[in-house]
Amino acid sequence: MWSGFITTKTLPITANGVDPKRAQLSTKTRCAANIENTENTRSAPQHRQHLLSSLRPAHHLLSLLLVLLVLVLQLLAPHLSRRLLHSVITAEHARRAPLAQRSPPLLRDPAERVCPKPGTSFEDTDKTAYHCRQHTMSLAEHAQRVVAEFDFDQNAVQKSVDEFLREMDEGLQNEGTELSQIPTYVTAVPNGTEKGLYMAVDLGGTNFRVCSVNLHGNSTFTLTQSKTPIPHDLMVAKTSKELFSFLAKQIEAFLKEHHEDHYFSHIKRRNTGETQDQEIFSLGFTFSFPVNQVGINKGMLMRWTKGFDIHDTVGKDVCALLQKEIDALHLPVKVAALVNDTVGTLMARSYTSPGKSHALLGAIFGTGTNGAYVEKLSKVTKLVSSTAKAGTYDDSTGEMIINTEWGSFDNKLRTLPNTPYDTTLDKDSNNPGIQMFEKRISGMYLGELFRLAVVSLIHDPNTPFTSSETGPTGSESKTTTRIPATSPVFKQWGIDTSFLSLCASDTSASLNLIRESLASDLQIPDVSPEDARALQAIAGAVVRRAARLSAVAIGAIVLNSGRLDEGEQDVDIGVDGSLVEFYPDFEGLVREALRGVKGIGEREKRVRIGIAKDGSGVGAALIALVAAGRAE
Ligand code: GLC
Repeated sequence: MWSGFITTKTLPITANGVDPKRAQLSTKTRCAANIENTENTRSAPQHRQHLLSSLRPAHHLLSLLLVLLVLVLQLLAPHLSRRLLHSVITAEHARRAPLAQRSPPLLRDPAERVCPKPGTSFEDTDKTAYHCRQHTMSLAEHAQRVVAEFDFDQNAVQKSVDEFLREMDEGLQNEGTELSQIPTYVTAVPNGTEKGLYMAVDLGGTNFRVCSVNLHGNSTFTLTQSKTPIPHDLMVAKTSKELFSFLAKQIEAFLKEHHEDHYFSHIKRRNTGETQDQEIFSLGFTFSFPVNQVGINKGMLMRWTKGFDIHDTVGKDVCALLQKEIDALHLPVKVAALVNDTVGTLMARSYTSPGKSHALLGAIFGTGTNGAYVEKLSKVTKLVSSTAKAGTYDDSTGEMIINTEWGSFDNKLRTLPNTPYDTTLDKDSNNPGIQMFEKRISGMYLGELFRLAVVSLIHDPNTPFTSSETGPTGSESKTTTRIPATSPVFKQWGIDTSFLSLCASDTSASLNLIRESLASDLQIPDVSPEDARALQAIAGAVVRRAARLSAVAIGAIVLNSGRLDEGEQDVDIGVDGSLVEFYPDFEGLVREALRGVKGIGEREKRVRIGIAKDGSGVGAALIALVAAGRAE
């Protein structure tokens, strides 16, 4: 079953600038204006006859004048459209007929807003009073309207930056704010000299990663890792145990495969009754969800994000949940540190690119989005005022890394843009009203936003999507694209954000990559290059807005640090995630918006942005190292 069509073929124009087919089409359009009338199937002579016989001597002069006018017009313009004549005459009839006899207006239900079935001739159509709408705008023009809906201009960027700065301060002082501003108890960043073998696991996206990291002490490291997709039923499991025992089993499998000696000698010692095992791995647990951290390896889940939803985990210490399942399998592993992926990214960036000034911010633009930055301890006033914050920390640096959880910035939409697609996406998500910033930026959502925008075009009766397969006159709107009802375009989450990257990377004239992907991934075959370009424009607008929003967070954190005012040093930022890694020039789009922010301007050049790959592995290992007190 086919449920939508893209019809954007342009019409040939003859030498005098008029296309005969178009002329026919406009006639049809006028017909559409008349179909509310029941008398439009009479011929002109019949009408004249009918009109004359209906004249009564008592009828007033106006009717006579009107008829005369019509007759004169016909004489002067023999080729005048019969339908115009119809309309004048029938309008007069309608005026004179008693109300009850007037023909009812055609119902405007969407089913009537379609052109006749393929194969129906124009004349047939006319007689059966089909309601056919002329699509005066091409798909490309409609796409431009959608593109404009995704605008987020410099003024709007500035307002959001100001709001971000306000929420940053608010979050440092109080609990329960939109920007959570979570103290991480990490008070120093590495300098590249750290050494040792550590383990890290990473839960936070579509995969669970287990790795061991060998830090060489010279800003380099070697990393061994395994990656397992997280089954969807575990993401929404009934109990925490189901998920955490799965994680522990992955750790066991990793140890058996990559640290066989270590694993089996541990088993042997345990079997011979040795209880004091010195060869325990310190593990950094990268848990990329909002956690109320109360110590370096202790933190209660505040809420799930990114599609996870297991009720009984909320409020529990996730390190304890993992340790319990690790112990159940008797593994030589101690959960030494709880780390958000952004904190790991910041640590990894500091380890691999040590400079005069250490990295300021670690940010993720992947399935989710978030940032952790270095803040002055004196500003984190909630740390002292809150009794819930029982953790101890080394305050000698005067700084602490703060996990902003910026995915929930401006949940109240004071400054964030809000299109109908954002509203629908949020309404249909499993966490409506929260993570509103993330829902406009991150990889989990951009494909869906794009999909909703495209579906709105498909359902818009004014777009060429709703034209008939062949068009009312056979060729003026030849179908080039057919969208079957089974296409993923009609399913929630049916379009992956990687499709948007592909759109941006296709620079070929005929957009072959896009068209091929539409055919193979979305079951939309034979898309014309024009249609593909229209879709490409929408995809580009969705990501451009995401990048400009990302600049809001980055810009605010750079301004808050005051580092641009301190000498000529660069401000260093480590980033990771599929958007920054795979979307062509995402960074360029971010920079464009950064340059327009008050207080940054041309100094945007001093903001150094670098990929910090494997931050959640290396960074977690580094924090495990600090936590284990083994730094060399
Ligand atoms: C979500 C999580 C956050 C994480 C981010 C990136 O926003 O809540 O903790 O850092 O995704 O993975």
